[in-house]
Amino acid sequence: MTGESINVARVAEEFELDNEFTWGSDVKITGRSGAVHKFDLVVTSKKDESIKIAVLNGISDDLVSDIMKFNAISSDCGISLKALVVSKDLDDTEINLTQMYSIITIDQRKGRRVKSDVFGVKDLDESLGGAMKRGNVYMVSGKTGVGKTTTCTQFLVQGARMGEKGAIILTDTRGAEYVANAKTFTFGFEEYYKEGTIEVIELSDRIRELKEEVLESLKNRSKYINKLTGEINKIILEANISRLAIDPITPMIVENDDFVNQFMMALAIPHTFILITSPVMKSDVSMYGIEEYFVSGIIKLEMDDPAAGIRKASIVKMRGGTYNPYPFYYKITPKGIISSQSERDSKSGSIFKRVES
Ligand SMILES: Nc1ncnc2c1ncn2[C@@H]1O[C@H](COP(=O)(O)OP(=O)(O)O)[C@@H](O)[C@H]1O
Ligand SMILES: [Mg+2]
Repeated sequence: MTGESINVARVAEEFELDNEFTWGSDVKITGRSGAVHKFDLVVTSKKDESIKIAVLNGISDDLVSDIMKFNAISSDCGISLKALVVSKDLDDTEINLTQMYSIITIDQRKGRRVKSDVFGVKDLDESLGGAMKRGNVYMVSGKTGVGKTTTCTQFLVQGARMGEKGAIILTDTRGAEYVANAKTFTFGFEEYYKEGTIEVIELSDRIRELKEEVLESLKNRSKYINKLTGEINKIILEANISRLAIDPITPMIVENDDFVNQFMMALAIPHTFILITSPVMKSDVSMYGIEEYFVSGIIKLEMDDPAAGIRKASIVKMRGGTYNPYPFYYKITPKGIISSQSERDSKSGSIFKRVES
């Protein structure tokens, strides 16, 4: 019962360690309780040794108690990244447990895992074609009411479904107001919020004072950026967050090329998906007409047919990936963002009707 038979590369890939990792099997670690625990496998990032993945070889007949014990010893050792490697289908109890404990399941019978959906919105994930990468900053742009906040919520819920913790930083809405609205959707926000898988954070009024100092003198720029992104980093590390939304980014930034450049670079946090939103003013994708140059990708949302509530989404920039630049049409319903392609086809009076797959 060792870790030797586990494909270490698969585990590293699953956690996006970019081939820079070390590992050991049958690793003994002393927990906070003082007890010494043994792990089948521990994979450690070379770039950041605080990133450790505990791996359980799921071969025993009593997997349920193994998973429970594995979760307990991982938590005693302060390891929050956990993987279970199996070569069989899990039963419902086992699946529930892995989800509850945020344990990523790796099935050795299958090849590389299909790239996970980022939003859980079929058209959007298909258009993106897996081009969004952790460690980068992506922007969702559009006028009020197009669905920027809803996109952020679905992004966090999709992460939560896969056991990832997420947070949204609200910069111009009260938390209670956001939560009340997000709860009206039926895609599962409420449960994940209640269990703490999704955190809602408000930006305090301190930001205004801090920003005024930056505006007074650009010399304060680095200080401000370091303070703000330092606090964001702290939240991410402490709560083990792997998806962060900032909605909208505008109150955090000032209209200056170098500032926005430096800010976005500092915001790109390793192993974390960062999604920011922006209203549009100086350009058709941002407030200041600068933001677009310093993010890794942009999803542009527009109103298409206000009377019918039909909106349009297009990917206008996505670094280092192939994506579909053609827009798709959607509505916002209690179920969240729903494709409205077929409605649009019939509405536009086309002679041809697309056959839905
Ligand atoms: N629970 C809901 N059910 C149906 N539609 C909703 C719900 N919540 C919000 N909406 C719709 O979404 C729109 C706002 O989307 P939102 O994501 O807040 O846009 P933005 O952040 O771009 O201003 C509202 O105009 C409303 O029509
Ligand atoms: Mg909004």
